[in-house]
Amino acid sequence: MLAANNNSKVALVTGSTSGIGKAIAQRLAQDGFTVAFHSRSSVEAGKVLAAAHPTASYVQADLFDQSQTRRLITEVLCHHGRLDVLVNNAGISATISHTDLQAATPEVWRDLYEVNVIAPWTLITEAENALRQSSTQACPSCILNISSHAGSRPKGASIPYSASKAALSHMTKLLALSLAPQIRVNAIAPGLVHTPMSEHWDTARELWATRAPMGRGAEPEEIAQLAAMLIANPYITGEIVLADGGLNLT
Ligand SMILES: NC(=O)c1ccc[n+]([C@@H]2O[C@H](COP(=O)([O-])OP(=O)(O)OC[C@H]3O[C@@H](n4cnc5c(N)ncnc54)[C@H](OP(=O)(O)O)[C@@H]3O)[C@@H](O)[C@H]2O)c1
Repeated sequence: MLAANNNSKVALVTGSTSGIGKAIAQRLAQDGFTVAFHSRSSVEAGKVLAAAHPTASYVQADLFDQSQTRRLITEVLCHHGRLDVLVNNAGISATISHTDLQAATPEVWRDLYEVNVIAPWTLITEAENALRQSSTQACPSCILNISSHAGSRPKGASIPYSASKAALSHMTKLLALSLAPQIRVNAIAPGLVHTPMSEHWDTARELWATRAPMGRGAEPEEIAQLAAMLIANPYITGEIVLADGGLNLT
């Protein structure tokens, strides 16, 4: 039985006021989930998105701050009473040439690790009990991390960014082992996706246009469709699904 009834299920999507997170949250709402929207500073956008979906909510929390990160899970559980799906999408990037080692300062490394690695870890540890409680044998709970192709290949906006995504991808596999069978843990590793984050990544646009077999970057909705598939499938765990339009083949 693959077609799960999502009507009573709650999904938290971090960073869901923009780009990939917004597309995933809207797709999950369409699929029947009650969605908890979240962002750092785009509060108005979050409230508007939540208001557009009858059962949805919005929580503001800066994932740079551990106490706000923990509060995010507490507020979602207080509001909705359960959690079935956690999508760790919120992330930050830093564009630094891979040959400019001086520019990749310890502060850059710490900031990227704080938001891209430590915050997802904290959210998972805070959500673990609730995810276990809502899990059933037919429909295990689910964590989906939005990593990057830069975490799998020696590419990306900067070395610290790529290394932070490599850490998130490896954490995904380690947690898939630790949390099975009640909680599945997977990641998507997108290539270029057209969002506000990638607005000025002209070199990447050129690369995808000329080298990727699909001849372009992805739209957020295409990543959201993949996310919905991974969330719906009750068996897949520990996978890092590359979604780069075939760039890795060239
Ligand atoms: N775009 C790409 O080409 C691409 C490729 C590979 C992987 N990714 C990954 O995909 C994910 C989403 O990227 P995107 O391109 O959709 O980015 P985006 O359009 O810039 O959206 C980022 C979202 O995350 C939130 N956010 C950022 N920093 C936060 C913080 N400290 N605390 C809480 N929320 C925070 C933002 O909220 P505010 O707007 O309120 O700050 C926003 O809702 C990221 O993890 C990124 O690394 C993107």
